[in-house]
Amino acid sequence: MVAVQNASLILTMRYTRTLPGDMYFSSTAVMITEVVKVVTTMLILLAEKRSIVEWIKYLYSVSVGHPWDMAKMLVPACIYTVQNNLLYLAVSNLDAATYQVSYQLKILTTALFSIAMLSKPINRVQWLSLFMLFVGVSVVQLQPVNGPVTQSSKEKLSTQNTLSKTHNPLLGLAAVVASSMCSGFAGVYFEKTLKGTATPLWARNFQLAIFGVIIGTMGMYINDGSKIKEKGIFFGYHKLVWLIIAMQTFGGLLVGIVVKYADNILKGFAAAVSIVVSCIVSVYLFQFNLSLPFVSGAGLVMLATYLYGIGQKLAVQKNATNGSK
Ligand code: C5P
Repeated sequence: MVAVQNASLILTMRYTRTLPGDMYFSSTAVMITEVVKVVTTMLILLAEKRSIVEWIKYLYSVSVGHPWDMAKMLVPACIYTVQNNLLYLAVSNLDAATYQVSYQLKILTTALFSIAMLSKPINRVQWLSLFMLFVGVSVVQLQPVNGPVTQSSKEKLSTQNTLSKTHNPLLGLAAVVASSMCSGFAGVYFEKTLKGTATPLWARNFQLAIFGVIIGTMGMYINDGSKIKEKGIFFGYHKLVWLIIAMQTFGGLLVGIVVKYADNILKGFAAAVSIVVSCIVSVYLFQFNLSLPFVSGAGLVMLATYLYGIGQKLAVQKNATNGSK
């Protein structure tokens, strides 16, 4: 689900950034996504509480009622706002496939931040598996254009049309590297706060989204202030922009759920395995051709996942022997 959501999101984003005509301001899309997240999390909390009075009391308690607890979400909100803005910059300057491949760097940045901030022990076998995962997903994403996870022919055409005019691949790559750092840090910070404090997931998501709206609004005025004053927030919006906002909301909230029930490193594995599975399903649904790079990349992903599990078992055994000494 994560992979399908991600692949279609990137393709749609890339497509909308290469369309001729009035171009929407990406900073407004980042902010509006956070507004939609606030509304969605409020509705989920309402469904949980089943009483309007209880709901209002709860919303008050997790925001104004406990400002210091809420303030913990300020850091990830700032970083995610930067990340979400960088994502548009990257997608506007790189083709979808290059973007997807280089963004896999976040697998490694996430592991590094997990060690530094959560003191997660990662042994040699697990490091090896993380590198294999990184290489494997990159190779899978390098599928030729007939694959569903890379460029559609329409997308490729518009890429070619606009390539010389608008592309600055170096800027795009810098944006991806910075995004990967943001993704690793903010993801692990969110995990640490979620698992280290009593505030539940949906309250945290609500707090994060509220700050997201505030910081997103600041970002909007810093990036495109004068143009927005002249043309309005919703300038250039069409159905696909709303679709991107919906997909971003869904994807973001999904990240929170995965981090709660697993962790950020496993999120990377889940995404990688589902990329492979969605490609295999496409073989049957869309006559997707399995190429040699795909098969070897997919093999690497599977092997990496298996190795990571072995690494975890080794770590548990080592702990047990150390404990019994
Ligand atoms: O690529 P990555 O897994 O770092 O994606 C993070 C995305 O998920 C960001 O767009 C962020 O705004 C969103 N997110 C969210 N709610 C969370 C955690 C992340 O909306 N609890």
